[in-house]
Amino acid sequence: MMHNIIEVQRLSRRFGMTQAVNRLYLQVPPGCIYGFLGPNGAGKTTTIRMLLGLIKPDDGSIHIFGRPLRQNERDILSHTGSLMETPALYPHLTGRENLELVRRLTGGSRKEISRVLAVTGMEKDANRPVKEYSLGMRQRLGLAAAMFGQPELLILDEPTNGLDPAGIHEIRELICRLPKEGITVFLSSHLLNEVEQMATRIGIIKSGSLIFQGSPDELRSRFTDYVSVTTDRLDETCSVLRSSGWQAVHRGNNHLTVPVNGYADAAVINAELVRAGHKVYQLGLTHPSLEDIFLTLTENQ
Ligand SMILES: Nc1ncnc2c1ncn2[C@@H]1O[C@H](COP(=O)(O)OP(=O)(O)OP(=O)(O)O)[C@@H](O)[C@H]1O
Ligand SMILES: [Mg+2]
Repeated sequence: MMHNIIEVQRLSRRFGMTQAVNRLYLQVPPGCIYGFLGPNGAGKTTTIRMLLGLIKPDDGSIHIFGRPLRQNERDILSHTGSLMETPALYPHLTGRENLELVRRLTGGSRKEISRVLAVTGMEKDANRPVKEYSLGMRQRLGLAAAMFGQPELLILDEPTNGLDPAGIHEIRELICRLPKEGITVFLSSHLLNEVEQMATRIGIIKSGSLIFQGSPDELRSRFTDYVSVTTDRLDETCSVLRSSGWQAVHRGNNHLTVPVNGYADAAVINAELVRAGHKVYQLGLTHPSLEDIFLTLTENQ
């Protein structure tokens, strides 16, 4: 039977008065790159710390590889690699020496060091001390360490945090190759545009609860196109459109938006306004970007 690599149900965790994670459900199918998204403070790191057994849930369950985490923690975590925000590295040691320490802890073979250096493109800098590394190189070395022992699952908390566009691009290319090697990737971010090009599945968390889970296309299809209109008398324009059944919304000082189903509706709206004697200065059809959708979903109501 094909089970989800991660299956989380009703997961909850509080810190004092803060409900950091609140009855969270997650399904991470095998071979996907799962983008776990949410604004700052949404509960991503708290969730990841529970997935890695670093803190205990107050309630709910976590299954990884089809087995309950609580009873199989050692075994499950030995097949799971992780990278939390910034990797803990020894600055005065070289990249290779840092990996040698990881090897001694996890008991991998010497060959593993060369393998993970090759996968992350870090061979040429492996003999330089880490204190000379750029942030992107540190992040890649952290990923190399996470990939020790051929994990089936990688859990990465904000792996692109603080990187410049070139650094983000490098990490993204690296992560996109992982499913081909049989690795399922679960990664968090507070920026949708950082993950939208690599995620095959997206979960959005807000105030500790899941508010969307599905493919990027499903997320897009949740939101229809809209027409943006600028006229001489916006309030009246809004009433005219509403009286004929459009859900027009007055947006601030100079335009209103109307959810529609494509170009034909834009033409109908234009004709109605002209017939009612309004001066249409501007009228255009807009497809919301995933980033717009993410911001709409997560903005404070
Ligand atoms: N150890 C802790 N003690 C007290 N409160 C905590 C602790 N860890 C997290 N919190 C609180 O729980 C909430 C969720 O925090 P968390 O770090 O999980 O969010 P996040 O989604 O990872 O945010 P960010 O994008 O900023 O990393 C926040 O309100 C935070 O202040
Ligand atoms: Mg965090």
